[in-house]
Amino acid sequence: MKLLDGKVAIVTGAARGIGEAIALELAEQGAHIAFTYVSDSSAEKAAALEQKIQSLGVKAKAWKSNAGDAAQCESFVNEVLQEFGQIDVLVNNAGISKDNLLMRMTNEQWEQVIQVNLNSVFYMTKQVIRPMMKARSGVIINMSSIIGEIGNAGQASYAASKAGVIGFTKSVAKELGSRNIRCNAIAPGFIETDMTSYLKDGEGAEKYKSNIPLGKFGAASDVANVVVFLASDMGSYVTGQTISVCGGLNI
Ligand code: NAI
Repeated sequence: MKLLDGKVAIVTGAARGIGEAIALELAEQGAHIAFTYVSDSSAEKAAALEQKIQSLGVKAKAWKSNAGDAAQCESFVNEVLQEFGQIDVLVNNAGISKDNLLMRMTNEQWEQVIQVNLNSVFYMTKQVIRPMMKARSGVIINMSSIIGEIGNAGQASYAASKAGVIGFTKSVAKELGSRNIRCNAIAPGFIETDMTSYLKDGEGAEKYKSNIPLGKFGAASDVANVVVFLASDMGSYVTGQTISVCGGLNI
């Protein structure tokens, strides 16, 4: 018996990086996976992931759906319900950064980051709570960031969006705890993905690592493992929390 046998999980932005690792890890534990990608250039990767997940013996389907668009979130969730029959786990993973010093940050850059990183979490959560309330069970996991907790020069929009995710998470936990719906956030530190590729080999990489107690950047699977814990009954008394996965960078 696997930890998530027969569960249905949604993962947004899963064609690569942390989202892909989460989709695979949830599937390894027996969950059926519905996931999204946003750009046409990711379609091939999404199709390959769909097949890889199916080869693990569970259902998998990719949708091209923009998490920052309320109408697309609504139709995506409706279609998942039609095809999979239930939604047990939602992982709000999709995210972007548009870093710039405040002096230079345009309104458009600010709004795009809030739309994709924060508004999407509201749109998706709003859609899944109805079936979860009906089932009197559900788990929502929101991807925040260490930057949402400590801030960072040049990342005001990203930090604000990720801090917003933490406040939203706590509110959902309080509002829906009595319905047996748990809601937690994860705050990764530096995880090696395309989003952080500019840090990986740059001159500053060693300096960054020297500030991390574990002395290295994290892997996407480090985050995915915590998602499995929260999504499964292993985390059944955990709600409203922000779990740091940052090699100790926040201490
Ligand atoms: P990534 O850039 O490699 O992957 C993000 C994924 O989200 C991509 O597949 C992208 O196509 C998708 N996406 C972007 N906008 C979307 C939209 N509107 N609708 C649907 N999908 C969309 O980034 P990574 O590193 O895998 O990040 C995943 C999450 O983890 C993000 O929320 C990010 O902010 C967060 N995070 C990442 C950290 C890191 O060090 N890599 C650290 C802290 C948080």
